This record gives sequence, C-alpha cells and structure tokens, in this order.
Amino acid sequence: MSKSASTPTIGVFDSGFGGLTVLRELLPLVAGAHYIYLGDTARLPYGSKSRETIVRYAVSSARFLQQQGAELLVVACNTATALALDDLREALPIPVVGVIEPGAEAAAGACAAEQVAGQAQGEASDSLSQVLVLATQATVGSLAYTRACAALGLRATEKACPLLVPLVEEGWIVDSESESAEDAARASVTAQVLRIYLNEALHAAPHSRALLLGCTHYPLLRPEIERTLAELGRPLRVIDSARATARAVAKILSLKQAAKLGTSAVSDEATCEFFATDSVQKFERLGSRFLGRPVEGVRLVDLGG
Ligand code: DGL
Repeated sequence: MSKSASTPTIGVFDSGFGGLTVLRELLPLVAGAHYIYLGDTARLPYGSKSRETIVRYAVSSARFLQQQGAELLVVACNTATALALDDLREALPIPVVGVIEPGAEAAAGACAAEQVAGQAQGEASDSLSQVLVLATQATVGSLAYTRACAALGLRATEKACPLLVPLVEEGWIVDSESESAEDAARASVTAQVLRIYLNEALHAAPHSRALLLGCTHYPLLRPEIERTLAELGRPLRVIDSARATARAVAKILSLKQAAKLGTSAVSDEATCEFFATDSVQKFERLGSRFLGRPVEGVRLVDLGG
C-alpha cells in the first residue's frame, strides 16, 4: 500500500467492477504506479441516468480520487466518458483520460485489419468500414462513439444493452471454477439475454467488421459474447478499449517524465488501494475474480446521493 514520493499516483473510477478491466491492463503496462480505484457501486448504474446526474456522480467520484492523491485520472467508464469528460477536465487540475477515443482507435485498427483480410480473399472494399458498438443507454444516446468513430473514417452502429451491467454486477457470468448448478443456471440467463441483444444488433448492422465493447463491464462477458457470435454465424472480432486506454496513460506518463508526475521509472511492482460506495464484502469477493488478483482491504466511502 505504501508508495515512494516519486511514484505516480493514478486514480481509476467506474460505477462498479467494470473499470477493473481497465486496471487489469494498466497494472502490467504502467507497473510502477500507485493505483487508487473507486467503484461507485451505491449509485450504479450510471448508464440509465440523465446527463446531469452522470456529471454530478462523475465529478464527485473524481474529486474524491484527487483528494486521495491522484495526479492523473482514468475514467474507466464509457458512460462517464461519453457524458462528462469535458466537465471532468474543467473540474480537475490533473490530466483526465477517458476510454472512448482509445476505444474508437482500437476499433479503427481492427476494422482496417479485417478490411485488408477481406480484400485478400477477393471481397469488394466498401468506402466506409462499419463497427458495431454495444454500450449503455446513456452512452448510445450521447452518440459519443458515432462521433469518435466518424472522425476516424468509421461508421458506428450503436446498440444499447441495459440488462448487461446489472447481470455482471451480480456475478451472473460463467465461473470456470464453480461446479454449482445454481451458478450455471444464472450464467445461462445472461447467455439468453446476450443472444437477444446480439441478434438485434446484427440485424441492424449486417455489414459490421468488428464488435466494440463500449462499456467497461462487457469484457467480463467476452467469452460468452464470442461464443454467441459464433453460434449466430457471425464470428466478428471483439475489441475493447482497456488496452488502448492503458497505452494512452503510459504515453502521458512518459511525456510527463520531467514534471513531478511520472518521475519514477515505471519498473517496480504496482500497488493498489480500493474504495467502494456500497458493500465492500461484495466488492472484494467479485472484484478479485474480475481483476485476476486479490482485491483486499476495500474501504467504504460515502459520496452522498
Ligand atoms: N462500466 C460503465 C461503462 O463503461 C457503465 C456501467 C453503468 O451503467 O453504471 O459505461
């Protein structure tokens, strides 16, 4: 938990467990940092709230992390990035990195690779590559991905999947270590929901070259998503913004080497602190499963309503 004076402190926040998928990518890439993660579980889901509420929640979460010492903020939540990135940058005197631009860049890279592969097999090249984006209702409503993808010459079709975040937060996903029939039954409910969403999305965008997971909770469903796409006869390449976001953070830190932030060589073991605004026991139990390393000593924080 202790950090040396030269270790960069990075705040990471999401409404819940989803941002752990971004932290999981940050840990090996920016290994020498001290991370403070906040899961705003009491106010989750953000994805069904109004812009005003999302901005209020995001700014209070971000301010809390800055008060804890964060010198750089990673908004590991597509909904908060889509609706509140400008407000966060205005409210905080530290660099703020969102997940939408890195996600759109990852999608553009994947679609370009698929286009080249398609042309090599004699497929006619279309003028604008298409990507299917699954996200929360608020992210879809903001059209943030449509704009970010268009800036990169990519046409995005966005599909809202409002049931997926609650299912992930309840842990209703395949647990390869569990042999319980109840767990299998719960995971099969999620698989049925996914099948309905993916079927509708593929009908709306039949020419998509890739599927972008536009919510940081969805990578936790990646195996089920890939299996369902294969079953539906459309084994699209599935991408998320986590690794691209981690690369964006690494780039900022290397640019800031001369300043206080990032003066340490990022070679030591990363250290982490965790906060949640609701049940810390649940956060420790499910968080460890999602991060792939123990999530311990989670502290409860009250950020109000
Ligand atoms: N993980 C968040 C995202 O990336 C959304 C979860 C929520 O709806 O609160 O959009």
